[in-house]
Formats: sequence, C-alpha cells, structure tokens
Amino acid sequence: MIIREKPEWGELATFVPNKRLPVYNWFYYKEGYSRDLVFRLLELFGIERGDTILDPFAGVGTTLLACMQKGVNSIGFDVQPPAVFASLVKTRKYDANILEDTGNAIMNMRFVQQDFSTSNPLVKRAFKRQTLDDVIFFRDMIMDIGDSSVRDFFMLALMNVTMKCSWAWKDGAVIKIRKHPVPPLRKLLKRQIGFMINDIRSPDSTKASCSVGFGDARKLKVESDCIDGIITSPPYLNKIEYSKIYSIEEELFFRGMGLSSLRSHIGINPENVIRERNKLDDVVDASNFNPQSIAYFNDMYEVIKEMYRVSRDGAKVGIVVGNGCFPEGVVDSDMILSKIAEHIGFDAKEVVVLSKRWCTKNRVEKVGQTRESLLVWEK
Ligand SMILES: C[S@@+](CC[C@H](N)C(=O)[O-])C[C@H]1O[C@@H](n2cnc3c(N)ncnc32)[C@H](O)[C@@H]1O
Repeated sequence: MIIREKPEWGELATFVPNKRLPVYNWFYYKEGYSRDLVFRLLELFGIERGDTILDPFAGVGTTLLACMQKGVNSIGFDVQPPAVFASLVKTRKYDANILEDTGNAIMNMRFVQQDFSTSNPLVKRAFKRQTLDDVIFFRDMIMDIGDSSVRDFFMLALMNVTMKCSWAWKDGAVIKIRKHPVPPLRKLLKRQIGFMINDIRSPDSTKASCSVGFGDARKLKVESDCIDGIITSPPYLNKIEYSKIYSIEEELFFRGMGLSSLRSHIGINPENVIRERNKLDDVVDASNFNPQSIAYFNDMYEVIKEMYRVSRDGAKVGIVVGNGCFPEGVVDSDMILSKIAEHIGFDAKEVVVLSKRWCTKNRVEKVGQTRESLLVWEK
C-alpha cells in the first residue's frame, strides 16, 4: 500500500468550493466534500458515461449531482432526513415556468399567524419570535402545494433561509446560540427562490439516472456485483453526531423521520460492543481500543463488506475519512479501514493524505497528529 501526501487536494475534501456552485449550494452541509473531488476521482478511476457509481453515505448528494453532470448513473443512501431530502431535490428535473408561477404565489401571500408548539428547547432559543412565525407560516403554505416535487423545491429553499435567519451556529459537534441581527426571512426567501429557479434554467442534456433514498450503509439495498465505482465519505470517528447537529431542521421540517446512524455517534452499550470484539480481532489489534472505536470499526466492517459485495470485479473505491482524536491519543482510521478492506478482499492501493492537524486535549495539550485521507481501493 502506497502512502503519499497531496495537500493541494485538501480543500477539495471540504464543502467550501461548492458554496459558489449552482444547485450544489442549495443546502449548506459542513460535513460534505466538493464536486471537484468527485470529478477528479471519476477521471482517476476511468469511469465512463453509463457506468454506475454508489455513494452509501450520500449526505446532500454531491457525488450524485457530480455524476449526473458527467452522464454517470448513481445510487445514494443516507439516514438523515435533511440530507436525503436535499439530495432528492437537487437531483430532480423541474419546469422553470411552473416554479416561477408558484414562487410568485407564495411570495404574494399575506401573513397569517399559524399554531405552532415545540418541546425542543433549541428551536425556541434559535430564532427571534417573528422569524419563527414566518418559518411556520411559509412551511404550512408550502405544505399545501399539490405537486410533491414543486413542494419539495420550495421547502428546501425555506430550509436554507431558515438556517440563515437563525441564531444557531454549528460549531463542530455542537450547536451554539449566538444572538445577532437577522435579515427578514421573507426577503431572503424571495431571493433564494430566485437563485434556485435561475440555476435550473441552464440547459442540461445528460441522461444519467440517479436514485436516492433512505438506507443504511451496513445493509445496502443494492444487487451484488453491479457497481462500477464507489465514491463516499463516512462519518468520522468521534466527530459529529448528525442527528444533534441537524436537530433544528429535523424538528421544523421532518418530525419523527430518520434511521439510526453509525454507532460512533449513538449511545453505545459497552457490553454489546465487547461481545462483538472478535470481528476486529482477526484484522487489527483492538485490545487498546475504547468502546466507541470498537463500535465504529465494527460498523465500518459491515459497510466495507457490503461495498465489496455490490462492486463488480475491478471496481474502484475512493473514501474520504478523518482519523479519530481522543484525550488518550489518535486513532488512525485511514490505516485501520485499509486493513479491514484488505481482510475483506479489496486491494488497498493507496492512502493519500489530504491534510493534517493537531489533536489536542483540554484544548491546548497536543496528543498527536490526525490526518484526513483519501483511501483508494480496488476489487
Ligand atoms: C461525511 S458525511 C457525507 C457527506 C457527503 N459526501 C456530501 O458531500 O454531502 C457522512 C454522512 O453519512 C450519513 N450516515 C451516518 N450513518 C449512516 C448509515 N448507517 N448509513 C448511511 N448513511 C449514514 C450521515 O447522515 C452523513 O450525511
């Protein structure tokens, strides 16, 4: 296995370059990567029009959208309602004239106070009362639109501006409330709808198919041996608990939906974890792993097994992953996942280090360096 450094690709592993791109920027996803990373991997892997790419952790659909633009078929799954929803809305085709008429009708509606109650303390704290009233008013108006794809288009526009008008600030793994002046939601919504309708006016001649849905990467709803390539990024060990970070969107727009995410991020029963230890023992020395790491790598073991099952011989895999940072030290997820992949049958060809940062305890004391890496495998 080759290990090399490619810091010039570091920014491509972030969502930042997407912020300027039509459609990609319809919903800001801090945990996402960029279109250009996907373009480069499609080229590197020799993927052609008509091939099929899988993203088992699709997030807001960056891989899927990039594939569509290149005429490549794609399949994506995620467990988070806001992410699946954003992917769906971004990968559909629309009639701009219908959207324009509906957009005008929405923006001309006179405000009427709606009934709304929430037991979610974060939602209560994250908005000025008037902003929250506007969100609920527009949400309920948009819910009444009969055509589901038109309805979803406007709901995503509203979700986008709702977060821009909130006092919530996603700081890594936690949401902080920072009060500051916010623009009127109605004005931002009008502008956002204008941008989005403009984005879909540009001609798009690609015929690629794209399927997006709720699904758990540990049990892929995909036939065996049919995938030409996988481009993805799983949750990182010890990082973000997605259901917490997106709880405002979930409460306002998707109450009661969603599946369970990888166990790096949900409550772990150490007894169950210890019983599972054997799966990893064949691959790595897990004797000094904490319960969270054991749960994470056991889950990823299942994911990689599924990736292997659905891939055809010769299929290429590109995975962006960051290492774990704990007070007791750094966990090299990139190396451990590569070992698991080899154990399952992949040829783990490369670990391309994209960026490095210090892992600290008590915010100042350095305990080691973590890497964000691109893993390249072949079946
Ligand atoms: C690093 S993000 C991927 C972002 C994506 N590459 C993009 O550009 O939008 C990881 C994603 O994995 C999802 N996820 C967590 N557990 C999952 C599971 N068991 N099955 C499928 N998706 C899962 C999270 O909801 C999150 O959207």
